[in-house]
Amino acid sequence: MSDRHILTAVAWPYANGPRHIGHVSGFGVPSDVFSRYRRMTGDKVLMVSGTDEHGTPITVAADAEGVTPREIADRNNRIIVQDLQSLGLSYDLFTRTTTVNHAQVSQEIFLGLLKNGYVFPKTTLGAISPSTGRTLPDRYIEGTCPICGYDGARGDQCDNCGNQLDPTDLINPVSRINGETPKFVESEHYFLDLPAFTRALGDWLATRRSWRPNVLNFSVNLLDDLKPRSYTRDIDWGVPVPLDGWRDRPDKRIYVWFDAVVGYLSASIEWARRSGDDDAWRQWWQTPDSDAYYFMGKDNIVFHSEIWPAQLLGYNGEGDKGGTPGDLGGSTCPPRSSPASS
Ligand code: MF3
Ligand code: ZN
Repeated sequence: MSDRHILTAVAWPYANGPRHIGHVSGFGVPSDVFSRYRRMTGDKVLMVSGTDEHGTPITVAADAEGVTPREIADRNNRIIVQDLQSLGLSYDLFTRTTTVNHAQVSQEIFLGLLKNGYVFPKTTLGAISPSTGRTLPDRYIEGTCPICGYDGARGDQCDNCGNQLDPTDLINPVSRINGETPKFVESEHYFLDLPAFTRALGDWLATRRSWRPNVLNFSVNLLDDLKPRSYTRDIDWGVPVPLDGWRDRPDKRIYVWFDAVVGYLSASIEWARRSGDDDAWRQWWQTPDSDAYYFMGKDNIVFHSEIWPAQLLGYNGEGDKGGTPGDLGGSTCPPRSSPASS
C-alpha cells in the first residue's frame, strides 16, 4: 500500500478528426489500467488530458472542409469526448487546449522562460505562398527529409526517421495546398534555447530508471546536438504570444506543441479549480511524494523527453543560465518518473 500523489498524464489527441483504435490501444487503455491499479493500491491519482486543438493539424482540416478551425475543434472535441466516455476511461478531467485557463498557463510558462533568459527573439526564414501571399506554417509544406531521404517529410517532422525539422530544412519543399514551391521570407520568432538545457536534461535523464531502454537511448542521443527551437509560428490559430506588439497580431501564435505539453499542468490547475480547492494541483506537481507517468505514442517522445522537461527546467531556473522559479514551478518538475511509451 502506498498513498502517493500520482499524475497520470495522457497524450492529448488532436481534434482534427475522430480518433481510431490505435489511440485507444496505444495509450487510452494502458493509462486507464495504470490509474485504476494505482487507485486500488491507495495512491491519489490525478489523470488528465484533453483535445489538442491548435496548430496546423486543425487549420489544415478546416481548410479542407472550408470551415473555421473553431468549428473543426468543437465538433471533434465533442466526438472524442463521447467516444472516451462510452469506453469508460477514468479521466479525472478531459479538457481542451482552447480554454482561457490553458492560454493563461501557457503564457505564464512562456513569460517565465523569457524572464530567466531561455527564450529569445530571432529573425528566421518563413515560408509564404508566392501566389496568395499567405504564410505556410510547417505542416503546409512537404518535401524530402534531409536526414533520411524520405519523400513525404513535413515541415515540422519526418515521420520516417522521427527527426524534428523546420520547413527550411526540407529538400524540394512544396506547398500542400497547391503544389507550388514556397518562397522564404524573413520573419521574427521566439526560440527556446535548448542547448542551455543539455546538462540539466542529461542529469535528469540519468535518473530515469523505469523507461524503456529504446526511449531512454533515443532521448539521451538527442542531447548530442540540441539546437534552439522556434517557440512561435506564423499562424492565426493558437495561443497569442503574451508580449506588447505581439499579443494582438493575428499572424503570430505559440507553436502548437509548446502549448499542448503545458496542457498537463493547465489541466491539473483546471481540475483543482473545479474541485473547489484552487491549490489542490500543487500536491501532484510541487511535493516530494508525487510522481508522474506519461503515456504517449512514439512520435511524441521528443516533446516529452526534451521540450516539456526543458520548458519546466527553464521556468524553474534550472538550466545553464540559472534564474528564479515562477509560482507554477516546483521541486518535482520535471517529473522524476517514467514516460511510459507505447
Ligand atoms: N496531439 C498530439 C498527437 O496526436 C499529442 C500531443 S500530446 C501533448 O500527436 F500533450 F503533449 F500535447
Ligand atoms: Zn527523415
